[in-house]
Amino acid sequence: MKKVIAFIGNQQKHATFEAVCEFGDHLKSYGEIDFEYLFLKDYQLEYCRGCKLCFNKGEQYCPLKDDRDVLIEKMSHADGIIFATPNYAFHVSAPMKNLLDRLAFVFHRPRFFGKTFTAIVNQGIFGGNSIVKYLSNMGRNFGFRVTKGCVLNTLEPRSEVAQQKFTREIKKASARFYKGLMHTTPPVPSFFRLLMFRMSRTTIKSTLNDKYLDYRHYKEQGWFESDYYYQVSLGFIKKTAGLMFDRLGKRMAKRL
Ligand SMILES: Cc1cc2nc3c(=O)[nH]c(=O)nc-3n(C[C@H](O)[C@H](O)[C@H](O)COP(=O)(O)O)c2cc1C
Repeated sequence: MKKVIAFIGNQQKHATFEAVCEFGDHLKSYGEIDFEYLFLKDYQLEYCRGCKLCFNKGEQYCPLKDDRDVLIEKMSHADGIIFATPNYAFHVSAPMKNLLDRLAFVFHRPRFFGKTFTAIVNQGIFGGNSIVKYLSNMGRNFGFRVTKGCVLNTLEPRSEVAQQKFTREIKKASARFYKGLMHTTPPVPSFFRLLMFRMSRTTIKSTLNDKYLDYRHYKEQGWFESDYYYQVSLGFIKKTAGLMFDRLGKRMAKRL
């Protein structure tokens, strides 16, 4: 049985919720899935004050006492996560953006390896593709395996053609997500992800020290020596590229 949680970023049970329901029904038809709907509006989440204590000292030093850790716990215990949001002014909704801000420290110390992520964006007419791209990047930064999300046009009244497209897109996205869920090992990183890992670990090693949490975390995880965040067979070309990225990182760190 796989546990999947949909984090829903709008206030009402409208088209976004409808899309998540259809998505969940498809998933449950593919295999044994425990599917949970989580409305962000039901959780107390303050706005980030920008003190950066979570980055430098640790997330436990955040001065805001709210439901952030409840949401993190939920993510930690799930096998799959969906971020579903309406397109508001060409971006995610405010509660969804707030969640991302409050979890930004995870970009420094990614942790959701082996879990699958996707994005569902609902919109009237335009702008959703860049939102799905943005959310997919956030998912990768958190450490998730990301499957291609979907953008749904839900301008009311919805024509029959639009409704058919809505259903088709959700079905395809849910099949991709289910395939991701069934993987037992995390993915081989792309060149870009490998570059990001090697450059950041080299910069952290060269410019920080034991006083900084990122430094201690990378040291404890063995990330200063490993090929990537997790054990993975890179193959000759990516191994060589990784060594080049390390050298590039060292050169860049000298200029900082
Ligand atoms: C404040 C606001 C801003 C919006 N901005 C956009 C937009 O930039 N592009 C777009 O295509 N639709 C936009 N819409 C339309 C919504 O994305 C669309 O109605 C969507 O279906 C809302 O999701 P819901 O039905 O789950 O509430 C906006 C709607 C609101 C209320």
